[in-house]
Amino acid sequence: MVKASPVLHAIVTGAPPAGGVGALVAAAQADGWQVGIISTPSALPFLDVDALIAMTGYPVVHSFRSPTEPEPLPPPDAVVVAPATANTIAKLATGISDTLATGRCAQAIGAGIPLVVVPFSTRDHLAHPAIVTAMSSLRAWDVTVLYGEQVCSLPAGGPTSPVAGAFPWRLAWDHARTEYTRAQCERPDNHQRKTTP
Ligand SMILES: Cc1cc2nc3c(=O)[nH]c(=O)nc-3n(C[C@H](O)[C@H](O)[C@H](O)COP(=O)(O)O)c2cc1C
Repeated sequence: MVKASPVLHAIVTGAPPAGGVGALVAAAQADGWQVGIISTPSALPFLDVDALIAMTGYPVVHSFRSPTEPEPLPPPDAVVVAPATANTIAKLATGISDTLATGRCAQAIGAGIPLVVVPFSTRDHLAHPAIVTAMSSLRAWDVTVLYGEQVCSLPAGGPTSPVAGAFPWRLAWDHARTEYTRAQCERPDNHQRKTTP
């Protein structure tokens, strides 16, 4: 598969802001990136799949391909998981790859591909010790975890809502692009080019 420009994999999980992922797609495309969307099965009901296919030019992928099918998306240069459910955060910190989405994140962490995670649930849910530990582990592995009052205001308990307009899509994209640029600058072959006369 030919890569004309860098590729973002936008991973959406089963929380209401998933329906707004078009804002992330638009921000990345405005910077010349291609975007492929990977949805967990739980996120699908929140998505306008046809609109996202029209916007990205790629299928919205939600399951592993069969062995005889080609890869539906070009490989990623950066990955954003937004919104990231508590369930997915817990899986990421244990290396579980039971969905295409979690598998792609596990590969990204292993390969050192920039990964940005934007947790979204109630504050009570995300305060579970296992989730707090998971976020801390991800940060220790150089994953960017955008979480806190300054990032996105979350309800203490009760049902979550889409927080349309307030979800930090722009911030997530800015971090992904910055981490990608940093990774490019730190590539060993780049260093060699600079030092070779
Ligand atoms: C309407 C609705 C809203 C939900 N909102 C959230 C949420 O904001 N955060 C969260 O962690 N889980 C939320 N859930 C629960 C997740 O969808 C559920 O834990 C699911 O197993 C997550 O799977 P995934 O991580 O593979 O997407 C919601 C579920 C529904 C039906």
